[in-house]
Amino acid sequence: MRRLFGIFPMNEDKKKFPYVVWPPFTPLKPRPEALRVRSGNGVFLELADGRRLMDCISSWWVTLHGHCRPEIAQAIYHQAMSLEQVIYAGLTHEPAEELARRLLSLLPAGLTRLFYSDDGSTSVEVALKMAFQYWKNLGIKGRTRFLAFEGGYHGDTVGAMSVGQRSVFTRAFDELLFDVDFLPYPQTWADDFRVDEKEEKSLAALDRLLAGNPERYAALIIEPLVQGAGGMRMCRPRFLRSLSDHLKKFDIPVIYDEVMVGFGRTGDFFACQKAQTTPDILCLSKGITGGFMPLGVTVCTERIFNAFYDDDPYKTFYHGHSYTANPLGCAAGLASLDLLQKEKRRFMGMQAWHERGMALLKDHPRLACHRVCGTIAAVNFREGSDPGYLSDLGPMLRHRFLERGFLLRPLGNVLYILPPYCITEDQIISIYKCIQEVIKEIPEA
Ligand SMILES: Cc1ncc(COP(=O)(O)O)c(C=O)c1O
Repeated sequence: MRRLFGIFPMNEDKKKFPYVVWPPFTPLKPRPEALRVRSGNGVFLELADGRRLMDCISSWWVTLHGHCRPEIAQAIYHQAMSLEQVIYAGLTHEPAEELARRLLSLLPAGLTRLFYSDDGSTSVEVALKMAFQYWKNLGIKGRTRFLAFEGGYHGDTVGAMSVGQRSVFTRAFDELLFDVDFLPYPQTWADDFRVDEKEEKSLAALDRLLAGNPERYAALIIEPLVQGAGGMRMCRPRFLRSLSDHLKKFDIPVIYDEVMVGFGRTGDFFACQKAQTTPDILCLSKGITGGFMPLGVTVCTERIFNAFYDDDPYKTFYHGHSYTANPLGCAAGLASLDLLQKEKRRFMGMQAWHERGMALLKDHPRLACHRVCGTIAAVNFREGSDPGYLSDLGPMLRHRFLERGFLLRPLGNVLYILPPYCITEDQIISIYKCIQEVIKEIPEA
C-alpha cells in the first residue's frame, strides 16, 4: 500500500511533518500521503509513476467535460495574451459581461442580476449577505435568521459553515458560527415508499417554525435536488416546489446553492429548471469554468437587486474580491458553456447509463438506498452507518479503488460516482464492475 501512496517530495530523515504544503481537509497525523499527478486527459489522470486513474468524481466535482479540453485551454491562452486580470471596480471587460449575459440567458427569466466572486464558499457568503442586507435596506427590522437543512454543506467560510450541518468540519469553530434553524432534508432513493411521509415531516417542521415568528427569517438556503458533501442525498423536484410555495406565503427568499448541481449535473442545465422553480438567489461555481479556473457567481432577482439600487451609500453591497470577474476565469466559463450547449446530450443522457450500472448493484445484500439524479449516482454501504469524514470505511474503499485504477472517494459509507461528461457508457459500467469487485474484498463487519 505504501508503494501506491508516495507523496510530494519528502525527506525521510525529518521526524516531523516533512512537507511545506498543508493539505486541505486532511489530518496531519499520521503522515498524509498523496499521489503525484503528472497530467490529465479526458476522463483519465496520469500519475508520475506512469499509472493511469479514471477520475470518477470529476476532481471534487469541478471537471465538467474532462481534463485538459483543448477548447477551454485555448480560450484561457488567448485571453491571457490580451488581458489576464484587471481591477473590477470602475473598470469592466467583455468576458465578464458576456459570461453574465450567457448565464442569465440559460437561467430562469426571473433571475436578472449577477455578482462575481471566487469559489463556491464565497458565492454562498455573498448570497447570505445579500439576503441579510436586503431586509435592512428595505428598513425591515428583525429578519436576521436563516433556515437551512440538516446534512447540508455550503462551504468553509464562516457564514457558509454556519448554514451547514455541524460536523467534525465545523466543531472547532462552533462559538464563531451563528444560529440557524435546521429542517430535515427528505432524502429519497429508488423504491423508497416513505418519501411522501418524509416530505410532509420536513414541511411540517417548517410550518411549526413559521407559525412562531416567520418575520425573523432573512432567507432559506438549500442544495436543490442533491446534497453533495452530506452524502449525495437526493430529494424530489416536487419537494422544492412545495417548499417554495410555503415560503412565498411568508415572503421568505429562497437561496439555491447550485455550486455542485449546476451546469448539467442533475441532467438538466440547472437544478432549478429540473424542479421548475425559480429561487430568489442562486449560487454557482465548481463546473462554471469546466474545472479550469476558480470562479463563483451569485445571481438574484430584480426584487433583491432593487433593494440595493439607491442613492443612500449605506445601501451599497460592500463586498468584493481582488480577483472578481477574473478575465481568464470568464473566458474559461464562456468556452465551457459552448461545450455544455454543444454536447448537452452527454449530460442529459448519462442517467440511463448510471441506471444500467446500478442494476448490477441492485440486489447486493450489502448495499442500500440506490439513487441516481442525472450524472450523479450513489449507494450506501449498509455496514458503517456513518457517512462522516472520520469513518475508516471510506479510506479503506478508496485504497482498493485506487489499486484498480479508479479515483473514487466514498463519503464514509456512501459510494458515489460523479464523472466528467466525456465518459463513455463502457467506462461508466466499468466503475460499477469495479465496485462489485471491491465489495467482495471488504470483510463483513
Ligand atoms: C453545495 C456546495 N456549496 C458550496 C461549496 C463550497 O465550494 P468551494 O469548495 O468552491 O468553496 C461546495 C463544495 O463542495 C458545495 O458542494
